[in-house]
Amino acid sequence: MPGARITGWGAAVPEKVVTNDDLSARLDTSDAWITERTGIKQRHIGGTTSQLATQAGARALAQAGLTGADIDVLVLATTTPDATVPGTSATVQHELQVAGGACDLNAACSGFVYSLVVAHGLTLAGARRILLVGSETLSRITDWDDRAMAVLVGDGAGAVVLEATEGAGELLGWDLGADGSLRHLLKCDLGGYLYMNGKEIFRHAVRAVVDSSSAALARAGMVPGDVDLFVPHQANARIIAAAGQRLGIAEDRWVVTIDRYGNTSSASIPLALCDALAAGRLREGDTVLLSGFGGGMTWASAVLRWGG
Ligand code: UT7
Repeated sequence: MPGARITGWGAAVPEKVVTNDDLSARLDTSDAWITERTGIKQRHIGGTTSQLATQAGARALAQAGLTGADIDVLVLATTTPDATVPGTSATVQHELQVAGGACDLNAACSGFVYSLVVAHGLTLAGARRILLVGSETLSRITDWDDRAMAVLVGDGAGAVVLEATEGAGELLGWDLGADGSLRHLLKCDLGGYLYMNGKEIFRHAVRAVVDSSSAALARAGMVPGDVDLFVPHQANARIIAAAGQRLGIAEDRWVVTIDRYGNTSSASIPLALCDALAAGRLREGDTVLLSGFGGGMTWASAVLRWGG
């Protein structure tokens, strides 16, 4: 069966860095609390979702040796669109001169992995090249006087180019899930601010990552011991550690970037993937496990053989 592989990737974060000490200067919080409870040391803040998506998308296209004219479909995962209408992907399509279609996909923090699985389906339906972007400006829907949320969020974007292959592709297994009965645990009403029941989300998140990762690995005929690189959603370093340990994936295989970027929702997994690639942590043939979870609740995991 024909498949697809990632041939380009790129990241973008705003220039402005906000440290824990910056936040402690105006909120009743501390670097010690934020570091210990979340693993976050700083986050980048600024820009718009379309600007960050355009920058990351342009870098991914350049690395793949392509331009927008080569792209059949642009899928933009975001939970912080520039506007309700039109989709933010329309702006990015125009900026990058994407020849094909463009749509937004909102599955909260699981959005990038959802998009990756959907994009593989599009290649089976005949699309040859797809640009996938996860881009967020959570800072715009955050109440900066609410210490519970303000210390967690960051802005950024990550993108990959997915190209159809003649032979076997990269996607070996996947798992997508949702449970809308939990939608009250993490939400932002229209025009409002982000709200989260942190403790409950934490509990569900660890279980979601473990169960969804296990399901995707089982579909690939694999076990956690086969994973060379574990790229989880970056919501809390303690969630990553709890899930990694329960799955039995060695710590040196986890990608952790939350210390530098905070929680960037659907941008966190492509940002982490770009970080691992820049650090030379991925080789052809490696098995990569991506696993996201978030508002909805939703969860999504994908097992890739890097290079196909
Ligand atoms: O990406 C989407 C999914 N999101 C997540 O997965 C996030 C999941 N949840 C979490 O990561 C954690 O629950 C948080 C980091 C949000 C909170 O950590 P926690 O260990 O669950 O803390 P808590 O909410 O139980 O609060 C503990 C204490 C409370 O004080 P008392 O009641 O013990 O006196 C809070 O008021 O910490 C207090 N607190 C803070 N203190 C200093 C809450 N926020 C802060 C803060 N600085 N920023």
